[in-house]
Amino acid sequence: MDFFELINQRGSIRDYKSDPVEPEKLELLFEAVRLAPSAVNRQPYKLYVVSTKGREDVLRKIYNSDWFVQPPYVVCMCLINEQAWKRQVDGCSYAMVDAAIAFDHLVLMAANLGLGTCWLAAFDPDAAREALQLPANQTPLLFSPLGYPNEVTRPKRRKTIDELVVLM
Ligand SMILES: Cc1cc2nc3c(=O)[nH]c(=O)nc-3n(C[C@H](O)[C@H](O)[C@H](O)COP(=O)(O)O)c2cc1C
Repeated sequence: MDFFELINQRGSIRDYKSDPVEPEKLELLFEAVRLAPSAVNRQPYKLYVVSTKGREDVLRKIYNSDWFVQPPYVVCMCLINEQAWKRQVDGCSYAMVDAAIAFDHLVLMAANLGLGTCWLAAFDPDAAREALQLPANQTPLLFSPLGYPNEVTRPKRRKTIDELVVLM
């Protein structure tokens, strides 16, 4: 798909089919995450890919909605803070930026493969830690359901270019 068409048609999906996702597509998604750039190439994150089948109740404690557990997978991007590059002058960690880039690679590759996702930040981090049995040095940052959409994406509502861009 043409890149502009891809970013224009990708949208948050909040209704999924339970159809399985082909293993070849999963591999492409993982490769898209692997190829993402990161500060000093540290890749300070771990992606968890969780089968929803039989885990609906525990996953609902993380994000309580029907559509979260409709598709065959939910994914979780976790930060590994001690691996992140920190700017020397002020100690600012770029872990969240790195993880968000990798997550966006996954989201865009998914859309390119006809799969749906929805960025989720309003989840319960403690429930996530428990459900995923996360090691103490990992912090859950983002979740998304992953599967075939059961809806079409809506037209985008966005700020105008003038509101967003300063051309100097
Ligand atoms: C960092 C981030 C966190 C988000 N968290 C949530 C969330 O917790 N729940 C939700 O329904 N949507 C969430 N969204 C989806 C946004 O609402 C959505 O991307 C935005 O309204 C634009 O719509 P679109 O994705 O369809 O283009 C999140 C998006 C981003 C980028």
